[in-house]
Amino acid sequence: MRVVVLTGAGISAESGLPTFRDAEGLWHGHRVEEVATPEAFERQPSLVHRFYDERRAALAAVEPNAAHRALARLEETLGDDLLVVTQNIDDLHERSGSRRVLHMHGRLRSALCRACAGHFDWTGDLGGAPPCPRCGRRELRPDVVWFGEIPYDMDRILGAVGRADLFVSVGTSGAVHPAAGFVQYAAGQGARTLELNLVPSEGSHLFDESRQGPASHLVPEWVAELR
Ligand code: APR
Repeated sequence: MRVVVLTGAGISAESGLPTFRDAEGLWHGHRVEEVATPEAFERQPSLVHRFYDERRAALAAVEPNAAHRALARLEETLGDDLLVVTQNIDDLHERSGSRRVLHMHGRLRSALCRACAGHFDWTGDLGGAPPCPRCGRRELRPDVVWFGEIPYDMDRILGAVGRADLFVSVGTSGAVHPAAGFVQYAAGQGARTLELNLVPSEGSHLFDESRQGPASHLVPEWVAELR
């Protein structure tokens, strides 16, 4: 059985990372759309750097939860037949042992050089305009996909979603495309579809089955069923 699991901010909420669209998801009064665009970066680079520098620093204080760990166990069983596609820019899937993970919206712990297009593992701040490790220019930006930019790895993701027997969405509001459209694509190609979310998402009706509850309960329960 080939399985694709799409994850969103809800899977990391119980680790202590805020989601984007829940009540406490605002950042100092800013909507995420105000800090997560190329235009915002042109206009106010220091504000955008501060947003991502804070989120990168916060990673040091959090741990994967039972939902991340359950997906890592599922990968031990399914191997190449499981792909985790995450919209999250945290590294909690990797830290719980998952290896087959695609970060369609990029990674906090990576920097992208606007001058030479290099990607570099990065754990410190970008706000002080550090030089690029390769070309030396001070043009590093967060290696994340902003609104209006094309998500990473779309060929591989659509290939896997199109071949999946089971498509599962965990902890995502279904508000942001293209990820919000994967369920319809998967279903159209013959996959069974399942949603695991705290509350019904915007696209709940598109799934064959939707279960409501915290990811730390629902994901281990579902993984145990499947194994
Ligand atoms: N368990 C399961 N689901 C949860 C939990 C939990 N403990 N806590 C919250 N949720 C659910 C919320 O009910 C909501 O439906 O997770 C979802 C989080 O939705 P968003 O905040 O919109 O996050 P996400 O769907 O990941 O956002 C998509 O939008 O801002 C951009 O690029 C950013 O990747 C992000 C994308």
